[in-house]
Amino acid sequence: MENFGAVLGFCCLWFIQSVIPGSLLHQALFSSKNSHKSLHNRAVQINCSASDLSVCPADYMLPPETRELRGGECPDYFRWIHKDLQPWKKSGITREMVESGKDHAHFRLVIVEGKAYVEKYKKPYQTRDLFTIWGILQLLRFYPGKVPDLELMFWCEDRPVIHKNDYQGPNATFPPPVFHYCGHQESLDIVFPDWTFWGWAETNIKPWGSILEDLKEGNKRIQWQDRDWNREMEEGYKNSKLGDQCTHRYKIFVEGAAWSVSDKYILACDSMTLVLEPEYYDFFIRSIMPMKHYWPIRTTRKCRDIKFAVDWGNKHSHQAQAIGKEGSKYIQEQLKMKYVYDYMLHLLIEYAKLLKFKPRITEGAKQICSQTMACSQDGLWKQFMVESMVNSSSETVPCSLPSPFEPLALQAFIENKEMVKKQVEMWERVNTGKI
Ligand SMILES: *[C@@H]1O[C@H](CO)[C@@H](O)[C@H](O)[C@H]1NC(C)=O
Ligand SMILES: *[C@@H]1O[C@H](CO)[C@@H](O)[C@H](O)[C@H]1NC(C)=O
Ligand SMILES: *[C@@H]1O[C@H](CO)[C@@H](O)[C@H](O)[C@H]1NC(C)=O
Repeated sequence: MENFGAVLGFCCLWFIQSVIPGSLLHQALFSSKNSHKSLHNRAVQINCSASDLSVCPADYMLPPETRELRGGECPDYFRWIHKDLQPWKKSGITREMVESGKDHAHFRLVIVEGKAYVEKYKKPYQTRDLFTIWGILQLLRFYPGKVPDLELMFWCEDRPVIHKNDYQGPNATFPPPVFHYCGHQESLDIVFPDWTFWGWAETNIKPWGSILEDLKEGNKRIQWQDRDWNREMEEGYKNSKLGDQCTHRYKIFVEGAAWSVSDKYILACDSMTLVLEPEYYDFFIRSIMPMKHYWPIRTTRKCRDIKFAVDWGNKHSHQAQAIGKEGSKYIQEQLKMKYVYDYMLHLLIEYAKLLKFKPRITEGAKQICSQTMACSQDGLWKQFMVESMVNSSSETVPCSLPSPFEPLALQAFIENKEMVKKQVEMWERVNTGKI
């Protein structure tokens, strides 16, 4: 998935060097400042010295906060929730449809009366399933009593698994609703936040909440005008600490085998992000706009497009800086952990509304809770779980879900995006005299 360097080829190598996730992704732990002391410590703390760790403590979650503050309107990308569930809007979701997704799933998640149960089918790459399930447990702690009863299938590999083509034609069956980390225009996977929001232990990437804090510090440290990659180049990229990740004027985003989890780390840096137009999307990326949040790069003309973007950015540093800022703002404000949980909650609520059967604890499903899960881990796995653990239920209600896109509005959004890209291409042709 994280195949950055190889994609662009040699001509752009000097540039990629400054952006490969290797330097960001393999950073040692950044200094962690968990300064947020919670006023409402309502979730029961896990206790790894309890006598029987395989048993979920009966009172592992206290009742929800009663004095709830307003949540405001959700960010615009929440609208894609409706789009992702569209295939089942009319029919609803039957038990047969869910069961038919079993062959395309690593696990089944069952939620009944606020408790989570998991039935595992396959082992995915690394420990993605583990951190995904951990994330769902934290959602239950964050919004106790709000997550509806449901059963769902979850797929953990890179590429989407439910292909539109397989469910078209006169004898087509309904597609199984399967949750996954990314989508594609030819797929019907229901997009859900990936495991990295709770940490990616194999590559030493901390939970997203901690990274956001660190990135804000990093962005403050070095002014855009003072950013200079030459020094980094001379020093052979030895300084791959967090701060250095935000010292570049430009960063490049390239997807891998499917979507890449690196988009959020790259966009959050105040650098103008040059995005090689991706094919796959995760849950929040679909609402970003070229020239507002990033500079679009065609995959067919990478080097020329990148050179033009950089030349332009150096001549128009204020505009380039503004694009970098907008990109960061999008990530830092609209992708806070609160919204990640809100997205999960709304998606699960909308999904559960479509279910035409009563969810039950299936035979192979085992109850899971934060304590049994975190206490059985060690090393970074345990550290990241403790670090990303929700210690108190939300003090604000979930944001309110925006209405679905009107078909025309969606069309207009997509066309507008294409038009902006065409303008940039035209601009490049005029400025470089090349076709
Ligand atoms: C954790 O569990 C142990 C064993 O049951 C108990 O002695 C201890 O008091 C518990 N600690 C907390 C903080 O609840
Ligand atoms: C659809 O099903 C009918 C009846 O079983 C069959 O005759 C026909 O060949 C099928 N069509 C396709 C495209 O599979
Ligand atoms: C919850 O508490 C643990 C231990 O005190 C801390 O490490 C962790 O970062 C806290 N969780 C969050 C989301 O702040």
